[in-house]
Amino acid sequence: MIGALTRRDRLRLAALFVGLFLALQLVPYGWRRSNPPVVAEPAWDSPRTRELFFRACADCHSNQTKWPWYSRIAPVSWLVVKDVERGREHLNASEWQREQKDAREAAEEVREGSMPLPIYLPAHPEARLDAVEKADLIRGLEATFGAERGDDERRGRSGGRDRGR
Ligand code: HEC
Repeated sequence: MIGALTRRDRLRLAALFVGLFLALQLVPYGWRRSNPPVVAEPAWDSPRTRELFFRACADCHSNQTKWPWYSRIAPVSWLVVKDVERGREHLNASEWQREQKDAREAAEEVREGSMPLPIYLPAHPEARLDAVEKADLIRGLEATFGAERGDDERRGRSGGRDRGR
């Protein structure tokens, strides 16, 4: 089908795509990359927990996001901005002065493999934790944030698990 187009049509088509791509760059949503000030950090149980959190979680759960180059280019920028903004809403290790109601779910998210978000991993090999690192992070998150899930529904169940150190 493309073969049936004249050279001029193909040039027009290419110009149209370039124009659309450039137009996407003008959508302000993608410019919302920001790193607000670090107000307060949690009282980490150990430097190891902080290190692992910063390797695997902090880009979306702190105000110290390392914005990669492709986060400047729409439409990828929209996805990155959305993940960071939603991640910070749920858990922000730079704003520990405010309530962090999802913090106690952090260890469970790692245990289940839901966090870090799988989409983040191909471009961030440093966030792929091996078994020892994952166990250390889970233990550290429980020690730092607590281990109950959500409200009090799991208090009985999670209280004694993985606490031996
Ligand atoms: C690429 C960005 C990204 C990374 C990296 C990431 N998260 Fe998240 N996280 C999110 C987003 C987005 C949400 C909101 C998810 C939702 O609403 O479904 C979230 C939600 C959460 C929640 C709340 C869960 C809930 O259901 O309410 C916790 C806890 C959490 N993340 C912990 C972590 C931990 C711990 C790590 C590191 C091991 C991590 N995240 C890494 C983006 C990320």
